[in-house]
Amino acid sequence: MRIEIRELGRTFGSAPAVEGVSATIEDGEFICILGPSGCGKTTMLNMLGGIIAPTAGTILFDGVDVTKVPAEKRGVGFVFQNYALYPHLTVAKNIEFPLAIERVPRAERRRRVREAADLVQVGPYLDRRPAELSGGQQQRVAIARALVKNPSLLLLDEPLSNLDARLRLEMRVELQRIQREAKVTTVFVTHDQDEAMSISDRTMLMNRGRLVHFADPQELYDDPAELFAATFLGNPPINQLRGRIDDGDLTLADGTIVQGIAPAGLTVDAAIVGVRSETVTLASTAPRARARVEDLQYVGRDVYADVRLGDARLSALVSRREVDRSLVGTEVPIGFDADGVHVFDAESGRRIR
Ligand SMILES: Nc1ncnc2c1ncn2[C@@H]1O[C@H](COP(=O)(O)OP(=O)(O)OP(=O)(O)O)[C@@H](O)[C@H]1O
Ligand SMILES: [Mg+2]
Repeated sequence: MRIEIRELGRTFGSAPAVEGVSATIEDGEFICILGPSGCGKTTMLNMLGGIIAPTAGTILFDGVDVTKVPAEKRGVGFVFQNYALYPHLTVAKNIEFPLAIERVPRAERRRRVREAADLVQVGPYLDRRPAELSGGQQQRVAIARALVKNPSLLLLDEPLSNLDARLRLEMRVELQRIQREAKVTTVFVTHDQDEAMSISDRTMLMNRGRLVHFADPQELYDDPAELFAATFLGNPPINQLRGRIDDGDLTLADGTIVQGIAPAGLTVDAAIVGVRSETVTLASTAPRARARVEDLQYVGRDVYADVRLGDARLSALVSRREVDRSLVGTEVPIGFDADGVHVFDAESGRRIR
């Protein structure tokens, strides 16, 4: 199902929880809504599902305005954050529940419960109660219950957040498989960037009720629309250099000049230059400035150098082969790969280059 969201908004009292969101989700896409706590993710999802009424804007399903259509008539399957399985019912009865409410004939109910259970691979547990399942298995039952009505839209609100790290990784892969097999348009809420980046076709990044950037994971990372997008995605966080840009040269507050970090001809009074750690090179053959190596951090397979550049501190991802402890305390020529350098307006956070 194709979903069009136009200028969607929801206000609680006087405070907007979601504001002016416009986006189109294509049939069969796997979309993540990503953003910090309180940014409006659940409110967005609940408006798509018809659980919360918008105070502005419209939602179209396959071209039909459903803004005022109640939840039970929208053909959506919902998985809530705390699965909310019925503890006294068996797995089979839990999955069957939405069909029983709709008075679907018994034989068909059986067949569809079996199909949904097989899809999420809980077939062997149909007679158990939720308490007799692991967290991951309970999660699958909740997904089966959402899928049993053959919804044209599957909505999931942080469904993996109660699982331990390893199980989360497994369930991500499972969820992708289930989504592809069921061919159902899916919107998945998470505040975990790795989850969003690994699972989604495209991600809606939200902040303070606004849609900041809606793109595939690669574009979100490589081409952030705002400083917020640049800082929210990436680990370690993107380095930030504040200062004035004159014809591509950046002057930091303490007077240190970083030559040609921005394109020639660019002048910005108050800029924040974002630099990803993997695009910083020490011992550069095209140095932009000199910087002091303060420490090396060995994180598994990677090494990060903590570097002081004037009044700024940078983290640089370096190759194990290039560095050793003797570098600590020395000055090195530092360079930047132009692809990983983004210039933002310090005031508005908007991307300039
Ligand atoms: N029923 C409500 N009444 C009043 N304010 C609400 C209500 N529901 C949500 N809000 C407010 O709207 C904003 C967005 O809430 P929402 O639940 O959509 O955030 P979220 O992104 O899902 O956060 P989290 O990651 O913590 O679940 C918050 O500031 C929240 O306090
Ligand atoms: Mg939420």
